[in-house]
Amino acid sequence: MKDIRFDGVGKTFTTRGGAACVVLHDIDLTVQAREFVAVVGPSGSGKTTLLRMAAGLDQPSAGEVRVGGRRVTGPGPDRAVVFQHFALFPWKTVRQNIAFGLRCQGASRARQTVAVDRYLALMGLDDAADRYPSQLSGGMQQRVALARSYAIEPDVLLMDEPFGALDAQTRTVMQEELIRLSRQEPRTVLFITHAVEEAVYLADRVVVLAHDPGRLREIVDIGPTRAAEAWNTRPIHEVMELPSFTHLRTRLWRLLRDQIRPGN
Ligand SMILES: Nc1ncnc2c1ncn2[C@@H]1O[C@H](COP(=O)(O)OP(=O)(O)OP(=O)(O)O)[C@@H](O)[C@H]1O
Ligand SMILES: [Mg+2]
Repeated sequence: MKDIRFDGVGKTFTTRGGAACVVLHDIDLTVQAREFVAVVGPSGSGKTTLLRMAAGLDQPSAGEVRVGGRRVTGPGPDRAVVFQHFALFPWKTVRQNIAFGLRCQGASRARQTVAVDRYLALMGLDDAADRYPSQLSGGMQQRVALARSYAIEPDVLLMDEPFGALDAQTRTVMQEELIRLSRQEPRTVLFITHAVEEAVYLADRVVVLAHDPGRLREIVDIGPTRAAEAWNTRPIHEVMELPSFTHLRTRLWRLLRDQIRPGN
C-alpha cells in the first residue's frame, strides 16, 4: 500500500487577464499508507486542486507530489478518483461500469467476473447488476462509482465530495458503508468534504485548509479516539452522540469559522 506525500506544494493559476492567482501555498502533508485523511476548508481554498494534483490531473507549480515514493506526473492505475457527480457511463450496465477499470487493465474475463461479483455483493447492488445508471437512485449510482474504484484495487483512493450530491439520509448510509468497506479493505484515502461531521466520522486525521491562499491551517487527529471508542464498529447515530465526537466536531467548526470570518 502506498503513501501520498505533498512536499512544499504550491499551485498558481494564471487568469485570463494574465494575472497570477496563488491557489495553494507551501503544502506539506503525508497521508500514510492505509490512512484515511479528510480535507475540509472554505470554498475556493484549493481542496479540489490538491486532490487533482495527487490524481495527476494537475501539476504543482512548486514542490512535488509523490505516491508510493514516485513523483506524480499523470494519472495511474494505482490511484482511483471518485467525484461528486458519479461519472458513470450511462450506456453501460452497473456490471459493465464496475468492470470497466479492470478491463482497461487487461484483467481476464474470469478475474473481472470474480471482482465485479464481489463488489456488487459488498455494496448491496446484486439486484441492480443489469440495470443502467439512469434506472438507479443517486445513492445507488454512487455505490456503483465506489465499487468501480475499489474493484481495480488501487493503492490510493482520491474522493472529492463523493456524497455531496446525496440527500441527508442516503449520505448517512453511504458514510456507514464507506467505513465498513475501509475496514474490510483498507486503502490510502484522501477525502475532500465540506461537511465537518462527515470528516470526523470517517477520517483518521482531518486537515483544515485556510483560504487566500490555500494553506495548511491545522491537522486534527481523530484516530486515537476512533480506536479507543471503537467508532468503526458502531452505528453512525451512536457515534455522533458521543461527547468525544461532539468535542472534535466543535473544534473543527471553530477552526473553519475562523477561516471564513477572520478575527472571531
Ligand atoms: N483551472 C483553473 N484555472 C484558474 N483557476 C482555477 C482553476 N481551477 C481552480 N481554480 C481556482 O482555484 C481556487 C481553488 O479552487 P478549488 O476548486 O481547488 O477549490 P475548492 O476548495 O475545491 O472549492 P469548493 O469547496 O467550492 O469545491 C478557486 O479560486 C478557483 O477559482
Ligand atoms: Mg472542490
